This record gives sequence, structure tokens and C-alpha cells, in this order.
Amino acid sequence: MGSANFISQGIVDLAKGDIAEYERALVKLREECQSKLHELELLSEDEIKEFTNRFEMPENLELPKNADVRTYRELFSHRQLAALAFLRYSVDRIEATYLKKAMLLAWSASLAKLNRTFLSAEGRAESRGGSSIFSIYRYKVAKEPVELPAWKTFEERAQNVIAAKAEIDKAIEFKRRTSGWSGKFEIHAKNIDDLSKDLGGKVDYIFTDPPYGGHISYLDLSTLWNCWLGSMPSRKTRQSELIVGGDLDLTESAYVDRLGKSIKACINMLKKDKWLSVVFQHWNTAYFDAILTSAAEAGADLRAAVPQVGDTIWSMHKKKGNESVLAGELILTFYKTGKPMKVGTQDKDFDIEHAMAKILSKADAKVLYGENLFNQLILAAWHGQAIGSLHITKNDFIEIIKRHGWEYDAAKHHWVKNQFETMLFGEAGGTGF
Ligand SMILES: C[S@@+](CC[C@H](N)C(=O)[O-])C[C@H]1O[C@@H](n2cnc3c(N)ncnc32)[C@H](O)[C@@H]1O
Repeated sequence: MGSANFISQGIVDLAKGDIAEYERALVKLREECQSKLHELELLSEDEIKEFTNRFEMPENLELPKNADVRTYRELFSHRQLAALAFLRYSVDRIEATYLKKAMLLAWSASLAKLNRTFLSAEGRAESRGGSSIFSIYRYKVAKEPVELPAWKTFEERAQNVIAAKAEIDKAIEFKRRTSGWSGKFEIHAKNIDDLSKDLGGKVDYIFTDPPYGGHISYLDLSTLWNCWLGSMPSRKTRQSELIVGGDLDLTESAYVDRLGKSIKACINMLKKDKWLSVVFQHWNTAYFDAILTSAAEAGADLRAAVPQVGDTIWSMHKKKGNESVLAGELILTFYKTGKPMKVGTQDKDFDIEHAMAKILSKADAKVLYGENLFNQLILAAWHGQAIGSLHITKNDFIEIIKRHGWEYDAAKHHWVKNQFETMLFGEAGGTGF
């Protein structure tokens, strides 16, 4: 909640002031820091510690249990800690608040590169890569940490911020000349339930991307920034995070319950006849059940379900796994009718075999994406009023597709019709074996 808002507000504030002021602020920082940070690279550990003592250090908070190191400062080498502390000290001395904030944005982006969880991407320049918190979603300390040059790392980020300032100026200028410029922007950093109380019936459109079960504990991972920025969330906020697990071991049943309530909260915030889009993906069909059932009960109709497969982000995720990885999200779009619907449930289990046979027989393409098939299955169960009784494991799902004569192409991350099977059973896909 907090980090996204820090970034968004930071970007919006770039509308203030003149680009030349930002450039001058960076020149000044370069004069103050560049040679000092280079010198740091040559100092001994003891000399670095002594240097560091002169600057304010971040609180040495305890990290989540699954981190490789116990406390916050251990995430950094002494040299990195010194460099970051010195840079931060210099940024804090910038007078104009908007310039200070812009440089703080660049500094906070450098935090993710200048720490011991930074892993270089294989076969690329050493600086290309990222923290383990982005790839394996925990604080893993690299066996042989790469220490990027501090000044260069910061300066590149500051230049990105200045480039963003130029883009924002252009966009505002364009808006002023054409459709008019409102310049209004509001940020609310609130738990979804509280937000819903404030904004009931006031919103025109909601696009939401809730956490997908237990994959990523956002607040635990945001400690990297929140600790040093002094914006650690309260325990109450952490307890209401919509995730499974995390350092507080939040339960699956609380997650499902809250996921449903958060969808109802979103519908409650919408004006009548307006739209909500929810981005989601997970093997656990109970999560989809919670979303779809809650939306219907709150008076919203499912009007579109669009899978996002085949793009760059999708293939990046796919590279890390196999056919059991669901990478492309489904964007579910609901229309608020304001008429709550009762969601019926069938007594007997949803007939997965039959539904899959139907979906696969309709597939006229030669290649299929697992995500698309899975999403179609969810929607078939939903339209058959049987989502509550849809139970399927990844393995069963994969087995069914194989039995219908499809093979997984691990290089291209999709399913292809097995030629031999096609000849034997025809295009419709054989089900009788
Ligand atoms: C998949 S991420 C979405 C990230 C977002 N699209 C962005 O670019 O920042 C899920 C987000 O939901 C937030 N979240 C988790 N529990 C929440 C709650 N109870 N109320 C409001 N937001 C919550 C997390 O902090 C996280 O930022």
C-alpha cells in the first residue's frame, strides 16, 4: 500500500518546478557525492565503519523469518550502507521539497540495486539484474554479492527521474492545449474495507490487482524501502494484508473470506452502471469462486473475461517454470447493475472431464495456452452455476490435456496438437482412451 503510493505521489510531484532545477540539483549532488563515493570504494572495512558513524543509519529491524539474514542492516555490505547513508544525507539537504522528493525517489530506486540480495542476470552486464525479492520473493543474500558502483547507480536513476519529469511536462502541456487539464490527484493509503467506507457509491471505475494467495508477501518485501524511508506499516495494517502466509502466517481461510469481502467493498464504492476490473490468476479455484460469487451477490454482472497471455511479462514468468506455471492473468470485468444475485450451487461435483472435452473440441487453433484453457474451465463452471464444486489439481489438469492428444512445448510455453493423435482421432481430439 505505502510503497506504491510513495512512487505515485513522487511521480505526480514531478509536475512541480522547472526541469533545469532538477538538472541543477543533480549536478550539485554529483559535486558533493561522486568523488566521495569513489573514495569509499578504496577504504578498508574499519575506515568505512568510521565514515558511516557520522551519518544517520536506518533502524536495524528484524527481517521476516524466511530471509537469509536476521536484521535489516545485514542486507547491505558496510560499503553499501555507507554509500547509501551518505547519499541520503546529501539528498535530505536539498532545500526545495519537490527537488528533494524527486532525488529521494531516485535514491529509493537505488536501494533495490545497492544491497546484498542483488543478483546479476546471467549472460548480461553485471548491472543488469535485480534483487532476489523480485524474483524469488524473499530476502536471499547472493553467495557472491555483486557490488555495483554507488554513484553511477544513483545517477542513472536520477536521470530516469528527470526523463520522467520531461515526459510529464509534455503530457501536461498537451492536455492543457487539448482536452483541458484538471491536475487533480488523490492518494488514499488505506485498507480496502476503510477505503470502501470513505468512497461508497462515489467511484466511476476500479481497476484492481489483488495479491494472488501466498505468492508474494508485499509488506514483508517492502521492508527494504519502508525501513529506511521511515514508513513501516503498523501491525494492524500487516494483519489485514490480503495474502496467505507471510511473516504473520495469515491463514488461507481468512484470505478467501477477505478476498470476497474486498470485491464486495469495490462494488460498494462504484456508482451504479459503472465498471470494475479485477486482475487475477491462481490454480486454486476457490479464489475465483470468492471473486465471482461476491461480485454477483453484491449486484455486479460478469461482462468480460480477457486472458493476458503471450506478452513479454508472460513469457518472462514462463521461463522460470513449465506447464504447471500459470503466468498470464485473467482480467475479469464486472458491471454494477445494483441488483444482487443469489448464486446457486449444484449438489454434485462439476464434471471436469466433460467440460474439458468440450473446451478442447472447440479449440480450432493448433496451439493452446494452458492459462486460456484453465480460465475457460473456470468460466464454464461459473456459467454452469458450479464454481463452488470445481476442484482440480494442476496435475489432473495437465493429464486431461495430454489425454486429449496435446503435448507441451517447453520452449514456446504452449500446448501443441500431437500430429500422430490428430491422424488417429481427428481434429476434435480423442476422448475414448
Ligand atoms: C498484486 S499487488 C498490486 C500492485 C499494483 N498493481 C501496483 O502496481 O502497485 C497487490 C497490492 O495489494 C495490496 N494490498 C494487500 N492487502 C490489502 C488490503 N487489505 N487493502 C488494500 N490493499 C491491499 C498490496 O500491498 C499490494 O500492493
